[in-house]
Amino acid sequence: MTARVLDGTAVAAALRAEAAPAVAAFTARAGRPPGLGIVLVGDDPASEIYVRGKLKSAGEVGLRADLERLPATASLGDVLAIVDRLNHSDAHDGILVQSPLPAAMGADAERHVFDAINPAKDVDGLHPANVGRLVQNRAALASCTPAGVIELLERSNVAISGARAVVIGRSDIVGKPMALLLLHRNATVTICHSRTVDLPNVAAESDILVAAVGRAAFVTRAFVKPGAAVVDIGTTQVSDRALVERLFPPGSKRHEAFLRRGSLVVGDVHPEVAEVAGALTPVPGGVGPLTIAMLLKNTVRAAEDRLGR
Ligand code: GUN
Repeated sequence: MTARVLDGTAVAAALRAEAAPAVAAFTARAGRPPGLGIVLVGDDPASEIYVRGKLKSAGEVGLRADLERLPATASLGDVLAIVDRLNHSDAHDGILVQSPLPAAMGADAERHVFDAINPAKDVDGLHPANVGRLVQNRAALASCTPAGVIELLERSNVAISGARAVVIGRSDIVGKPMALLLLHRNATVTICHSRTVDLPNVAAESDILVAAVGRAAFVTRAFVKPGAAVVDIGTTQVSDRALVERLFPPGSKRHEAFLRRGSLVVGDVHPEVAEVAGALTPVPGGVGPLTIAMLLKNTVRAAEDRLGR
């Protein structure tokens, strides 16, 4: 079997196309576009790429997006001051503080910062008030990556209701909200993590398997029930040539890309899974574009809610 491709790029394009008229309607009504403030602290290369993509997509659909940059040496107080300013800004409906914050800021820094964002502007869905609403299935703003995965599954006709779903990973930003969103659509959900006993066999019971581990090619065919839908949320930058050659044979497109660039972004799911799964998200081009599209959607939603529908 060769798995059907779950095309995140196409679904993200559809979401953007739907956002554009909503942005235009809001702009006509409010006399200004929906506004997003993005806070980027330090110079993490992956975050630079994500933020560039967010700014570009926002501009393309007519959103106002402002980048607030701070050096890696900034204090927690510096970040909180920017969040406070954006909380009080009439021009900004959404606030996103790019994760991770520099390690030097301390282990609890992200929690402090996310707690400080006005929940009505929390387009990442990470404020405890929004997490609580998500638990109760009355969320307005849910974390962008898992919300994007739901859009992808639904628009690709993957049945969620009644399915057995396994989420590998229990982060606040992906694993936990992913599990809740699947649960609210009537999946029977198991969350797995580093202490799960017999992980491959637990995963292999699922009709929908979501991998959010952050370890290249961790999910092998042993984890996958034949015909299952597999969603790969991992993106690990790999520069180890031997590993790349074990995953992608010389002469393949991905191997060629590695030779050109010296590194390759590899998902959590081993390429051999394509022979077993019924449907699979590629990396890149699967979940990544959806995260940005959902950010736009959440920003428009926050703007409309603030203005009053
Ligand atoms: N870093 C990687 N993904 C995300 C995201 O969706 N939101 C934020 N704030 N940071 C991220």
